[in-house]
Amino acid sequence: MKPILISASILSADFAILKDQIQQVEAAGGDWIHVDVMDGQFVPNITMGPMFVETCRRITNLPLDVHLMIEKPENHIQAFARAGADIISVHIEGNPNIHRTLQAIRDLGCSPSIVLNPGTPASAISAVLPFVDMVLVMTVNPGFGGQKYIPEMNQKIAEIAAMASQLPNEVKIQVDGGIDASTLPAACQAGANVLVSGTSIFCHPDGISGGINALRQAVD
Ligand code: DX5
Ligand code: ZN
Repeated sequence: MKPILISASILSADFAILKDQIQQVEAAGGDWIHVDVMDGQFVPNITMGPMFVETCRRITNLPLDVHLMIEKPENHIQAFARAGADIISVHIEGNPNIHRTLQAIRDLGCSPSIVLNPGTPASAISAVLPFVDMVLVMTVNPGFGGQKYIPEMNQKIAEIAAMASQLPNEVKIQVDGGIDASTLPAACQAGANVLVSGTSIFCHPDGISGGINALRQAVD
């Protein structure tokens, strides 16, 4: 099995020392930085925008994995691409022209990824699978860090992994929400190969490197 990629969600970082926290992720071997963009409409919470991505871009060369939980993402993808996003994830829910949006992300030089909420079946994304580099399976309802993993999502991860294996293009499967050393093994067993974690990395009792090491050990 290929090693999993770890995308550290800075939603749980201490923004007062953001540079230091991102550098600790780098030093501990984290692979990507996950940026959760929320608009108070698509999800109840409001977080960060393109300026924040641009700040992260100046701090690190790690790929910036931008998860858009916003209405009308097509109106903002150019700003996020210009700010330095590498991967841009958009939700299938409420986006009638999702194919156009995914193509636009690629045309902007970024890697397109499609996201499904826990209430959305795997079949909802079948038509766009050939056009994405990654599927992000939400394992909590989006909006907040620190929620509990929904174990029923393991079945959906397996369904998407089976769908993806039929395609000529490589499609990564990312999981996001409630991931820690106890929930990660089943997600990986089901087919996940990129994990997002905020709480279990930034709030680990042994610090950021302790959190990243615990995740790596859980799937070794
Ligand atoms: C939730 C976000 C997640 C969140 C994960 O809407 O998409 O990326 O930061 O946080 P934890 O790992 O704390 O569940
Ligand atoms: Zn996220």
